[in-house]
Amino acid sequence: MTEPLHQQHDRKWWKEAVVYQIYPASFQDSNGDGIGDIPGILSKLDYLSDLGVDVIWVCPHYKSPQVDMGYDIQDYEDIHDKYGTLEQTEELIKAVHDRGMRIIFDLVINHTSNLHSWFQESRSSRTNAKRSWYIWRPAKYDKEGRRCRPNNWRSNFSKPAWTWDEQSQECYLHLYAPEQPDLNWENSECRQAIYKSAIKFWLNKEIDGFRIDTVNLYSKHPDLPDAPIVYPELESQPAYMYYANGPRMKDYLSEMSGIFAKYDVMTVGELPYTPDQEHVMAYIYARNKQLNMVFNFDTVDLGQTPGNRFLPRSFTKQDFKRTLFRWQSVIENTDAWTTVFLENHDQGRSVSRFASDLPEYRVRAAKMLATMLTTLTGTLFIYQGQEIGMINVPRSWPAKEYKCVKSVSHLAEIRQSSNGDPKALSEALDVLQLMARDNARVPMQWEGESANAGFCPDDAKPWMSVLESHREINVKNQIGKQSSVLEFWKKMLKLRKEHKDIFVYGRFREIATAALDEEIAIFMKQGDDGRKAVIIANLSKHEMEVRISSLLAKEGSNFGLAVANMDNVAIDRLQAFEARVYLSAS
Ligand code: GLC
Ligand code: CA
Repeated sequence: MTEPLHQQHDRKWWKEAVVYQIYPASFQDSNGDGIGDIPGILSKLDYLSDLGVDVIWVCPHYKSPQVDMGYDIQDYEDIHDKYGTLEQTEELIKAVHDRGMRIIFDLVINHTSNLHSWFQESRSSRTNAKRSWYIWRPAKYDKEGRRCRPNNWRSNFSKPAWTWDEQSQECYLHLYAPEQPDLNWENSECRQAIYKSAIKFWLNKEIDGFRIDTVNLYSKHPDLPDAPIVYPELESQPAYMYYANGPRMKDYLSEMSGIFAKYDVMTVGELPYTPDQEHVMAYIYARNKQLNMVFNFDTVDLGQTPGNRFLPRSFTKQDFKRTLFRWQSVIENTDAWTTVFLENHDQGRSVSRFASDLPEYRVRAAKMLATMLTTLTGTLFIYQGQEIGMINVPRSWPAKEYKCVKSVSHLAEIRQSSNGDPKALSEALDVLQLMARDNARVPMQWEGESANAGFCPDDAKPWMSVLESHREINVKNQIGKQSSVLEFWKKMLKLRKEHKDIFVYGRFREIATAALDEEIAIFMKQGDDGRKAVIIANLSKHEMEVRISSLLAKEGSNFGLAVANMDNVAIDRLQAFEARVYLSAS
């Protein structure tokens, strides 16, 4: 008799949850102004529940001037007027709960909008009581007496991270847009105000947790030192080594998790610029009481240069596998937990980036990625449109279609540095087409017949152009059609829940025989009761002979084919982007 395996992860609702991320501006418009809204979300709850979603994550819906699509918050306790009202938001929370689902909001507290009353007060004078709620420094002056910034840090939106304030004659720090000043977490009064307004206000309205924006940037290097010069031609330099994971992160998160501990909620932190394993683990060991889990950037950063998203870098399928699988084994036999995701509102579409969006492959490729994601250990996150296999914007898009602050400021910088050279602009558009955040922000594709994809009325003007691909790729086309990407996701989510010991909590082992092509992923998942699954995915468009029959025989258990993303399966031959799941009989 085999020893029963020791249960490796304790069970929690938020570990088993399938989380669906909604980008409110682009999900569903209910009143014809071309901007998605809260009533629009309400109207789609049954669709989400039918898909198999347990938790809805709504991107920032707070009052905001929308310089960074709501990640610049003017009032944590109010709603962006284009999205709706506080009452409608309360109604949404209730309607989600009535359907047995849960809802989490975005918690953006590294910075506020410059229009937040706290910043308005802070900038009003150097002696204001809230002056030190933000990070102010005197300007420096060069030999010629010209005013310079306090250090050479570059913001995440291609601009220097400091802006001079005429009124109070100092510079303030902003790791994102100048309209997003960084809060000074060193100030405990400021921290308490954040907790009260941004966290407790909403927990008391019974939401079920938060996705925590840029969670590791609150604590900066206390000396704010100059960053190493890696781009001599640029005015400012990537400085994440000095502003990510600073020395007081642990204190701040301990304090914050003390609040969460009083509620039954989940927390998932966005963890940019943190490739180092021990750093990551410190945030997610349950015993450390910091965060339930984090989003690692390993996979979504592929194809980019650290600190410079728009400087392309090549990567291989091997890199894709290595990064996607990285945290599977690391959390094994620990009390830490991880996430599984390939998309969000800051990334290009996974089918376009990691598989193929060519018409002949994209359906199968989307199902192949779904097969991998739904069988991996961790909390699973799906981004709106991913469930129907939405693809990137077309390369024919001119510069003016790109609306995201990061894309717009990148294009401005290219125009300036190249003196408007059309070739440089065209090269920049090549990169944006693949990497721009805009790819994820176009309207959701509900139906194919109408000009605006059912996102808003045909005579309305959507805030971003609807993609022509909506004619083929849309919910209406797919719902109830067994061969569709949407129905495949539903089937996979069901399977994941039916066998959660294997898929949600299971032990992971990559089966990599030297003879195998690097473009194939094969892995084993095993539940605490010893039951196993073998998952096979061809990541490429090349057909391959693979000795799957002998591989399964070697693993011993009596395996049966549970799912495949195509009709005709020849056991030892993998078609382009083919994926299969084999389950052991007992
Ligand atoms: C996070 C968000 C992104 C936003 C940034 C600043 O990375 O996901 O959309 O621009 O934080 O808040
Ligand atoms: Ca609207």
